[in-house]
Amino acid sequence: MKVSFIRPSLSSIFKPILFQTLPNRPVNFSKISSPPTSLKPQTPLFLKPANYRATLSDLKKWQLWAKNLATSVGTKFLDSDNGPDSALLLRELGWLIQDAVLEGPTSLSSENNPSEVVVSLRACLVDLYLLWKQRIEERRPFQYLVGCEHWRDLVLSVEEGILIPRPETELIVDFVSDVVKENEVLREGLWADLGTGSGAIAIGIGRILGSCGRAIATDLSPIAVSVASYNVQRYSLQDKVQVKQGSWFEPLKEDEGKFAGIVSNPPYIPSEDIGGLQAEVGKHEPKLALDGGATGMNDLLHLCNGIASMLRPGGFFAFETNGEKQSKFLVDYMENESKGSFFDVKVASDFAGIKRFVTGYRAT
Ligand SMILES: C[S@@+](CC[C@H](N)C(=O)[O-])C[C@H]1O[C@@H](n2cnc3c(N)ncnc32)[C@H](O)[C@@H]1O
Repeated sequence: MKVSFIRPSLSSIFKPILFQTLPNRPVNFSKISSPPTSLKPQTPLFLKPANYRATLSDLKKWQLWAKNLATSVGTKFLDSDNGPDSALLLRELGWLIQDAVLEGPTSLSSENNPSEVVVSLRACLVDLYLLWKQRIEERRPFQYLVGCEHWRDLVLSVEEGILIPRPETELIVDFVSDVVKENEVLREGLWADLGTGSGAIAIGIGRILGSCGRAIATDLSPIAVSVASYNVQRYSLQDKVQVKQGSWFEPLKEDEGKFAGIVSNPPYIPSEDIGGLQAEVGKHEPKLALDGGATGMNDLLHLCNGIASMLRPGGFFAFETNGEKQSKFLVDYMENESKGSFFDVKVASDFAGIKRFVTGYRAT
């Protein structure tokens, strides 16, 4: 698993969030759901108030120091574990400046005397030194530094304890979009995203369902429940997406057999491979989100075994896997072990052509 380094232009952060009006909504989640946690999610850097000041010359000193540190990496991380090279780190430095400096990067090229120009910052200069040191020396993921990740048209809050959503996972929302476009029953039905992490998939789905459609996002991790709830709130989807804590199907029991669709990107990395992951992932992202047991299939098999009874007839499912071997195994497993329970079970590839997903429908 590799940390995503794609970051769209800043303007997408400010894109107006689509609000949906919800006539005929059967249940008002905001009244019934409050996440069972007192954890307070962190505010992403770009949303923090610019309470700090620094002279332009001090900021430039920091920038030069940070550039030198990034340049000194060369291809060392790339060669050791496929980590970021200097070019990528320098791009990240630019994004950090965009998020941290209120006036934007243009102030860094001001023609006025830099020791007289004062810039407003969202983090103090001492913290910016500390953050960049953590990025290079501890390999702390960039997304944890700035507290957010750009994913589809969303900017999601992330922090330690939450898996940083990956670009390939965006396709799960595309699958759901394709399925609901043609099918009103599924569009207006109840969906679930199991192991929601930041809430990425559930929020993506919540924005494409019909006016009566709704989604439940679950996770075992209290930090994930807290951050997913915060992201749901940031996108004003509290009435559409309910976040629940618990293990896999357990929080869905009261809606057994009613789901129009269930999707999941569960932990799927074989335990013995965790040690060989890129340091940003292996050292910093939560094991609970990565480790799928000896073959990586523990959670995927649990999900396959339980999904038929949770879905309504004709209901859709999509699982993300580690790639070809796991996907092929799952398709065979679902066709042979649960004969007649599913139809149209197939493998779908990700952007890199890796056979990443298994999708299908509950038999009618
Ligand atoms: C690979 S991450 C996916 C996160 C998010 N859906 C995404 O795609 O970015 C797997 C998620 O499953 C959660 N998880 C692990 N074991 C679980 C369990 N027994 N029940 C529910 N969620 C679990 C982890 O906390 C983590 O958030």
